[in-house]
Amino acid sequence: MLATLYARALDSRSSSPILGDRTADEVVRRLDHDWRKTGTRAPWDAALLALRGRELDRWTTEFLHAHPGEVTVLHLACGLDSRVHRLAPPPSVRWVDVDYPDVIDLRRRLLPEPGGDYRMIAASVTEEGWLEQVPADRPAVVVAEGLTMYLHEEEARRLIQRICGHFPGGQLLFDCFSKRLLRMAGKMSWMGIVPRAVLESWHWGIDDPRELEGWQDGLEFVDDLYVVDVPDLDRLPAVARIGMRLGAHLPGGRDSGRLLRYRF
Ligand SMILES: C[S@@+](CC[C@H](N)C(=O)[O-])C[C@H]1O[C@@H](n2cnc3c(N)ncnc32)[C@H](O)[C@@H]1O
Repeated sequence: MLATLYARALDSRSSSPILGDRTADEVVRRLDHDWRKTGTRAPWDAALLALRGRELDRWTTEFLHAHPGEVTVLHLACGLDSRVHRLAPPPSVRWVDVDYPDVIDLRRRLLPEPGGDYRMIAASVTEEGWLEQVPADRPAVVVAEGLTMYLHEEEARRLIQRICGHFPGGQLLFDCFSKRLLRMAGKMSWMGIVPRAVLESWHWGIDDPRELEGWQDGLEFVDDLYVVDVPDLDRLPAVARIGMRLGAHLPGGRDSGRLLRYRF
């Protein structure tokens, strides 16, 4: 959570930012934390995370434009992400940020109040019950960035079923890793780029997005976006760009990370 926050702060400090998330930088400056302990976030890593965030912002915005009436944005595993500030939704949008109690507590202390119909829920998304705090009266777009890999498959299945059963309809937007990537992550510590403790908490990968359609009647895979196909990848420094493009030609390299969009 701190690593992705720091990545957005670094992006906002760059001479040509991708997300330009000034709130992320303000939060980083407010936090009394030794950012060297967060792991070295190379500039290309910051750019890549910013590109991923920007695409999920874009899909969320597309949903809001397609549903100009009253809708709910359910932002799972919000961490310290200022997505609600970046998208600045109109008053017709109810925005709900969800994360663990400790994270929500930190969020209350560090992030500015966005105003409008905004609330936070302090809970694990795998618990039963918290969803009852969200009125089920409107279509919802559910966005989760950097969450699915931390869930076990059965937890993810129950979460998706509960969400689809709760709202009258909507979309699910999230990023995921492939099963192969998770197997590889278990074997090597990625040259120290990703801390071992993080690698050990990755569990669920997706190879075939259509498999999830069988979990719930009415759940339909819409489209995906491979990380290697994210627009503006040329904003990454050449070494990272070339590395990613070469990696995409290795077995399983291309689909190791992607964004998925479903409707329900
Ligand atoms: C990699 S961070 C991403 C945070 C944020 N989405 C971002 O992009 O900065 C993973 C987040 O998932 C949250 N998380 C993981 N498992 C969760 C669970 N079961 N319930 C709620 N939040 C969870 C963590 O607390 C953390 O904020």
